[in-house]
Amino acid sequence: MAFIIKWLTSQPIRHKVLVFGLFMSIIPLLLISFYYFYHTKIDLENRIKEKQELILQNLSTEISLEFNLTSQHLQNLTLLSAPSRTDSEFYQLLQQNESIEEIVILDDRGNVEKRISRYKLNKPETHEEWYSKGMWQKLKKNNKAYSDVQINQLGQPVIKLAVPLYENGVTKGAGVVIQLQKIIGKIASFRQDQASYLYLLDSKGKVIAHQDSSKLWQKKSVILTDSVLGVKQQIPGLNWSLVMEEPKTSAFKPIYKMFNDGLIVMALFTIIVSLISIYAGFYFTKPILMLEKAMNKMKYSEEFSRLPVERNDEIGKLVESFNEMGIEIQAKKEIEEKMIQTDKLAALGLMASSFAHEVNNPLTVINIYAEDLLDRINGSDPTLDNHELDNYLQKITDNAGRCKKITRNLLNFSRKTNWTVSEIDIKEIIQNTITLVDYSLNKKNIKLTSHLGKIPVFPGDSLKLMQVLVNIINNSIDSIEKDGEIAISGVLKDNLFCLSITDTGEGISKENLPYIFDPFFTTKTLGKGTGLGLSVCYGIIQQFGGTIQLISNVGKGTTVEIMIPIHIRKKEGSSWGKTES
Ligand SMILES: Nc1ncnc2c1ncn2[C@@H]1O[C@H](COP(=O)(O)OP(=O)(O)OP(=O)(O)O)[C@@H](O)[C@H]1O
Ligand SMILES: [Mg+2]
Repeated sequence: MAFIIKWLTSQPIRHKVLVFGLFMSIIPLLLISFYYFYHTKIDLENRIKEKQELILQNLSTEISLEFNLTSQHLQNLTLLSAPSRTDSEFYQLLQQNESIEEIVILDDRGNVEKRISRYKLNKPETHEEWYSKGMWQKLKKNNKAYSDVQINQLGQPVIKLAVPLYENGVTKGAGVVIQLQKIIGKIASFRQDQASYLYLLDSKGKVIAHQDSSKLWQKKSVILTDSVLGVKQQIPGLNWSLVMEEPKTSAFKPIYKMFNDGLIVMALFTIIVSLISIYAGFYFTKPILMLEKAMNKMKYSEEFSRLPVERNDEIGKLVESFNEMGIEIQAKKEIEEKMIQTDKLAALGLMASSFAHEVNNPLTVINIYAEDLLDRINGSDPTLDNHELDNYLQKITDNAGRCKKITRNLLNFSRKTNWTVSEIDIKEIIQNTITLVDYSLNKKNIKLTSHLGKIPVFPGDSLKLMQVLVNIINNSIDSIEKDGEIAISGVLKDNLFCLSITDTGEGISKENLPYIFDPFFTTKTLGKGTGLGLSVCYGIIQQFGGTIQLISNVGKGTTVEIMIPIHIRKKEGSSWGKTES
């Protein structure tokens, strides 16, 4: 369960809407379906049982009547005088009742005097003993007697029924052998129902007649099982029970069909609900995705373009609020941009004399070498050989190159640009920054060291990052009166670029520390500082999605810590693995 919730929370909204739609529609449907299925099944089971009981009552009476009728016919036979008991009377009885296997007339000792059988030739002269155990005694007391259930020559269950026959002052008997399978067959034929089956149980629970003769003689005590529905009915006048059973598969066939149909309907329903949910998911998330896209665009682009408000609902209002927010952010950005530019101009102003010196030195060197070379050429100095000429020109080229580098960096730094994303090579940015502040460093005899770990190139505005470094290093230079150190170090920790600039300057007092990022906060004399440096740094680092903080100890120095999240992109020729000290 916890896994499902975790998975669900990590999914986009449109998946959640889909799951929610399916869950809310199918679960209630399933519950209702199972509730009705269960109750309909129980109801059907009760109805089937009621019906079976009713049928069984009638059939039991029918069996009882059958036996009574047979004994009645037999008694009628005994009432006839001996000469009138012709074979045709016997055959008529056999014809009337097809469950009778044989009819016998017994003498006063119970031996067969006359036999008319449905299957075998009559041999009355054998005088065999006919009654089974205890039957003769029963007959003396009652006007009819039944034997126990027996098996005939065909292996079928039979029962003997005998009635007394009074003739010439002696008590003789008349009897019939009844086939129980025939009785069950006859009873079953009254019914149209093919699914259920009938059988007879004796007093010990043994099957003495069954529609399926292979089930004969089995011991059946349990009627209701998991797979069968059944009812039991005592037969009046006999010590037997009639049982009706129906397999549940056929009894519940209509309900299973209904269930299967229901499943098909449910599958169709699921497809329809899924499609609606997918549509709803897209309908609701489309404007959110549009907002997300617009927000990402707003992060880097200069212009903010309003999103169209197409709806009047909450999402429409959200889009309206987004538009208002976008306009406000745009205005704020413009102010920030102006601040950045002002700060840059201020920094340039302060560094102007340094640049003049920086460029002046190589120019002086160029001038000296050029003049000396000109004098020697004009004076046709014979000692001026090619090697020396090379040397002169090399010196001039080196110094001209240095001037070019300084002016290029200066021009680059002073350029007014909006947020422009390029690949930042942090080593290159630091080197360019150093050329801008080199003169000030030398003037105060400050040693600058930089140590960079393996930092890959990362996307961002390189000029803005350079502006941050210039501001921070200038602050450090300002904080050192003479002879000090500035150490730059950069490492990558789990996609976080951590840059720290530590100086051995005067530090910041505890009272001033909370205000250093405020625009126009400065402790410097009028004309020396605008107080925009750190606030501009803060704004730029925020645009990088990073953080900046200062840790300072008065008298010991200050450390500026910058953290920028970067998304590593491997690129050939990048500054991977380059370390500088
Ligand atoms: N490394 C540092 N050492 C000591 N004090 C510092 C350092 N960095 C900043 N400060 C203090 O924080 C103040 C604000 O710095 P910030 O860079 O914003 O403005 P500023 O340097 O005074 O002026 P600007 O940078 O515009 O020339 C500084 O005036 C200074 O008091
Ligand atoms: Mg400053």
